[in-house]
Amino acid sequence: MSHQQLVRDEFSRQAEAMANAPAFSAEAIMNRFKDSLSPKKSGVMLDLACGPGILLAGLASTMKLNVGVDLTPKMIQMARAKCLAANLTNTRFLESPAENLPFASHLFDCVVTRLTLHHFMEPIYVLREVKRILKPDGLLVIADLISSEDSTETQLHNALEQLRDPSHIRMLPESELLQVVHDAGFRVISTDHWLQQRQFGEWAAIVENGRSLKSLEVVMKTMAAMGLTAGVNLRSSSGSVEFMHHWMFVVAQPVSS
Ligand SMILES: C[S@@+](CC[C@H](N)C(=O)[O-])C[C@H]1O[C@@H](n2cnc3c(N)ncnc32)[C@H](O)[C@@H]1O
Repeated sequence: MSHQQLVRDEFSRQAEAMANAPAFSAEAIMNRFKDSLSPKKSGVMLDLACGPGILLAGLASTMKLNVGVDLTPKMIQMARAKCLAANLTNTRFLESPAENLPFASHLFDCVVTRLTLHHFMEPIYVLREVKRILKPDGLLVIADLISSEDSTETQLHNALEQLRDPSHIRMLPESELLQVVHDAGFRVISTDHWLQQRQFGEWAAIVENGRSLKSLEVVMKTMAAMGLTAGVNLRSSSGSVEFMHHWMFVVAQPVSS
């Protein structure tokens, strides 16, 4: 099966749970995006791999026009329905791979993307495509999860994420994330970091949809008991597994070529 088909299958399964998961609706992250985008207020925004449209709907009223693209048809349907229900008439949605966007060059004032880079086979291709469609003074705002700089920890962490969600490719260490943004032709303006406490139950529930992740829970519990933290502070507390997701927020501008 191609990776694109895997993504479509996986995110069709996850769409409903994701749309209702508190982890996806945190107001603090929405406010970070709003603050970073204030120089582009009333502009044209693209939400790249918009999923069920949570971020796009939260930002829509500050922009003139908001476009959401995603590979998964069910995500596009849900994002469209969400904006329709909220009477957000300045929103448009398209099914498209992030690697090959159906837009003319230099069209967008800003591109936002959340929880997406770790699903792309080649993040650099996607970011080069983003550079193409951004205006020369446009803004790219990324929020994604990062992994440890230690190669064993990053491998272990990403293996656990892949066992939970087979469409997961790789959460990058911070240094690699910054490198790929740079190599794609951007200058980083600011970065920020924060931690998100996760419980195995809510993390698994977003993807389970009839599938059991009991074996993964056993693996993670055993790792925690052995002191293997996978760079995410993996631990077992009162019989349940917990860990910390490390978020990174990057605001960048295209470098003129
Ligand atoms: C974890 S969800 C995040 C959704 C949304 N950005 C949010 O934060 O609420 C990842 C999304 O990326 C989409 N996706 C994954 N790979 C993609 C690709 N190559 N092109 C476009 N969309 C992709 C999936 O369909 C899914 O909706």
